[in-house]
Amino acid sequence: MLLRFFFCIPPLSLRERGVNPERNLVHIPVLPTEVLHWLASQPGQTIVDATAGAGGHAALLWQRIQPGGTLIALDQDPSMLAIAKQQLADPRVIWVHRNFEDLPSVLDDLKIPTVDAILADLGFASDQMSDPQRGFSFQTDGPLDMRLDPTRGEPVSALIRRLTEKDLADIFWQYGQERFSRRVARVIVETRKKTSIATTGQLAELVCRCVPRSKGHSIHPATRVFQALRIAINDELGALERFLQAVPDCLNPGGKVAVISFHSLEDRMVKQAFRKMPTLIKELTRKPVQAGDEETRNNSRARSAKLRVAELVVRSP
Ligand SMILES: C[S@@+](CC[C@H](N)C(=O)[O-])C[C@H]1O[C@@H](n2cnc3c(N)ncnc32)[C@H](O)[C@@H]1O
Repeated sequence: MLLRFFFCIPPLSLRERGVNPERNLVHIPVLPTEVLHWLASQPGQTIVDATAGAGGHAALLWQRIQPGGTLIALDQDPSMLAIAKQQLADPRVIWVHRNFEDLPSVLDDLKIPTVDAILADLGFASDQMSDPQRGFSFQTDGPLDMRLDPTRGEPVSALIRRLTEKDLADIFWQYGQERFSRRVARVIVETRKKTSIATTGQLAELVCRCVPRSKGHSIHPATRVFQALRIAINDELGALERFLQAVPDCLNPGGKVAVISFHSLEDRMVKQAFRKMPTLIKELTRKPVQAGDEETRNNSRARSAKLRVAELVVRSP
């Protein structure tokens, strides 16, 4: 917002923000102006969108690197790749169904050793959240799944069937900061002795019995437990750590990495990764960049978004 004000740039239209108004696309890319500003992508560059999602940022970046640029767009969710491909229907884009923790081997396979910029916009897309079959939402009933990559691993229903009460409580506390973590874990363990917990509706109802509504009812009582389980089942923090470690080897000197996070644990990891190798990585944003009033009014998801950007100074040995 501030950038737009200083540089007198008119607000981006929906289409300019990468949203096709004729589609039923829900996900609106966050901090679009800021991402474009900080990555400063140029025609002919090679860039990676490590979290293609619905293709919003990818479409914006693609415009910036033409003519002659190469875009490698990854997502671990094949259904998001399908949406992104509709959004950015250019046969030159390289679409890859992989976890971003595998970025070095993706680049190896493509015989592209290093790139000019990497963007990661963490978490989930609104399209995933709004599909009851994916099991991310407590608002609608569906199978208790929450895998970002439904072709791999186990659903949340299996996780809560096999974990101990202590492990469940630790997940709720560490990834959700849920104050009633122990109580929720205890009730889950008692309930699963009698019946399987297989749907989002069942879990939400169970959590509501343990967690009192917050004053002012600002968030649903099941919000933190659902968030914690999503982070755990997808090993989101582990994947981010491995990705951040790999980034310096994937960038050209002067190449930039931008990460948008929505959770304080993620933001801390990004900050620490950018600061721990000052001779290799130069942090460009001392404080995280956040959305202005106009964007948060139009897109509630932007409220918790934090963007950090860094630049590769020298090649790693
Ligand atoms: C917030 S959305 C990205 C939205 C996108 N920037 C846009 O403009 O539409 C996050 C996306 O990242 C994907 N994702 C999350 N973690 C991932 C990982 N470790 N590897 C690859 N994709 C991941 C999710 O499946 C989801 O589609």
